[in-house]
Amino acid sequence: MSESNFPKHIAIIMDGNGRWAKERGLKRTAGHEEGAKVVRNITIHCAKLGVKYLTLYAFSTENWSRPKLEVEYLMKLLEKYLKNELETFLKNNIRFKAIGDLSKFSKSLQNTIKEIGEKTANNSGLTQVLALNYGSKDEILRAIRKLNERNLEVNEKNFESCLDTAGFSEVDLLIRTSGEIRLSNYLLWQNAYAEMFFTSTLWPDFSTNELDYIIDDFNKRQRRFGGV
Ligand code: FPP
Repeated sequence: MSESNFPKHIAIIMDGNGRWAKERGLKRTAGHEEGAKVVRNITIHCAKLGVKYLTLYAFSTENWSRPKLEVEYLMKLLEKYLKNELETFLKNNIRFKAIGDLSKFSKSLQNTIKEIGEKTANNSGLTQVLALNYGSKDEILRAIRKLNERNLEVNEKNFESCLDTAGFSEVDLLIRTSGEIRLSNYLLWQNAYAEMFFTSTLWPDFSTNELDYIIDDFNKRQRRFGGV
């Protein structure tokens, strides 16, 4: 793999946990548990490769409509994951951030998110971004409100400064697992010129080898950003 041209910002729609579990006669929650392990492996791999931003769709504004028990399980899993991950973040120089409307979460989860963000704020390698209660339409509406509140002129720069992703570079490579070919309200503005890669692999089976393959494919693509 060429090491000179890694995408700076990779965004992933981690899909297929439920199907992975079903195929094995397990509960959907077992798929999420396995998915969380893959989050760790892929994050460490991206940090080692020199990727600057890895933005992972962990819980969407639409995911609240899942069965109550699954939602509760995902909340607990997120909190457990974040608490366990601090050591990995510190060891690998990874900064943690969250995007989305966090106000809907329990105080305990909000505090954990804040604490891990603060404790990793000075790390300068990869930034792992978890999209939590995130929906792009919701983010855009909140950004418009902020623009108004701050009395800012409407232009690209000001608008971007009001998005949850303010300060991040735009997405270079978007990956979606599980064979679905859609964006599902994910980073609609930030994906404007992203290269996209859709794989049928279910998220719990997604590997660092497959990520290397996708990055190689990305490196071969010609990005023209609307030019010739
Ligand atoms: C999609 O699978 C996945 C999610 C709704 C959430 C993603 C969550 C994880 C990867 C695990 C926890 C994450 C962290 C950061 C600890 P699905 O349930 O929609 O699968 P299906 O389409 O096969 O039903």
